[in-house]
Amino acid sequence: MKTIFSGIQPSGTITLGNYIGAMKQFVELQNDYNCYFCIVDQHAITVPQDRLELRKNIKSLAALYLAVGIDPEKSTLFIQSEVPAHAQAGWMMQCVSYIGELERMTQFKDKSEGKDAVSAGLLTYPPLMAADILLYNTDLVPVGEDQKQHLELTRDLAERFNKKYNDIFTVPEVRIAKEGARVMSLQDPLKKMSKSDPNKKSFISLLDDPKQIEKKIKSAVTDSEGIVKYDKENKPGVSNLLSIYSILSGKTVAEIEGEYEGKGYGEFKAGLSEIVIGTLKPIQDKYYALMESEELDLVLDQGAEKANKVANKMIKKMESAMGLGRKRK
Ligand code: TYM
Repeated sequence: MKTIFSGIQPSGTITLGNYIGAMKQFVELQNDYNCYFCIVDQHAITVPQDRLELRKNIKSLAALYLAVGIDPEKSTLFIQSEVPAHAQAGWMMQCVSYIGELERMTQFKDKSEGKDAVSAGLLTYPPLMAADILLYNTDLVPVGEDQKQHLELTRDLAERFNKKYNDIFTVPEVRIAKEGARVMSLQDPLKKMSKSDPNKKSFISLLDDPKQIEKKIKSAVTDSEGIVKYDKENKPGVSNLLSIYSILSGKTVAEIEGEYEGKGYGEFKAGLSEIVIGTLKPIQDKYYALMESEELDLVLDQGAEKANKVANKMIKKMESAMGLGRKRK
């Protein structure tokens, strides 16, 4: 069985974008791959976090992973900081990274732009992400479109390490879904939907209640044409809503266009709200039950144990390749 690794930051409420671009696929892929899914809390502290809020978000993300359908019998779910090998390997990967290539990362540029206090961790975020992936002999990394550049760097770093030291890493492939790899903001359809967007109306959280969902979809930016038609260039708002509708309902875009022919955006948005609410309701029910149960800690303990075992083996190989420490029998 081939191996998959992916991670999500516990840095705020998980959005419909994270669900469609990442989690939904994790659930489908776990049947055919040996999967590791990580709550990357060490990545989250590259920008300021409130400690209590972060702890809450870590638990909440763990519950959401399970609530959307990650099955701990099939997948390994764990918290990054509970597997010290990530930070160890992150350091080693920093030492094979060049400052120039890290400064060229668009996420670094976006997140550091206009700020006068930028943490060094924000710059060295991608080598830690490479470490996450490379520790598990990962073949495939399912992510949304925005992570593509980080994945390309991961491949470069793996190849560089293999050439310079020893050929120990599997060079991973990126897997970006054909549909829904970039869910856009409801308020500015030229920007991606993001959990760190200060405008809360721009994203739907997986934990929004039906009223909030209806309100957000109602106020989603469209255009004045009043025709439900997919045209990404000229109708980015409507096209984004159509994509979400199609992915969550399983209907094709053409079918949905047909259904709403001659009808206005009001009806289309009401239909979409129903689909989103219907998708999230069972996830939320499971989520609230899990938050009250002891299952979560058990799953995370087991996940950390398994991940530690696998990751520590790779750390030994990396240290030996780089000449760190002593030779042991
Ligand atoms: P993060 O936490 O920003 O997002 C988690 C996943 O959700 C995807 N995503 C989206 N997909 C479609 N439309 C959107 N609007 C949208 N917003 C987010 C992201 O592409 C991602 O797949 N650096 C990563 C976390 C990470 C990681 C890793 C991922 C750390 N180590 C190793 C894979 C492998 C991040 O910040 O994701």
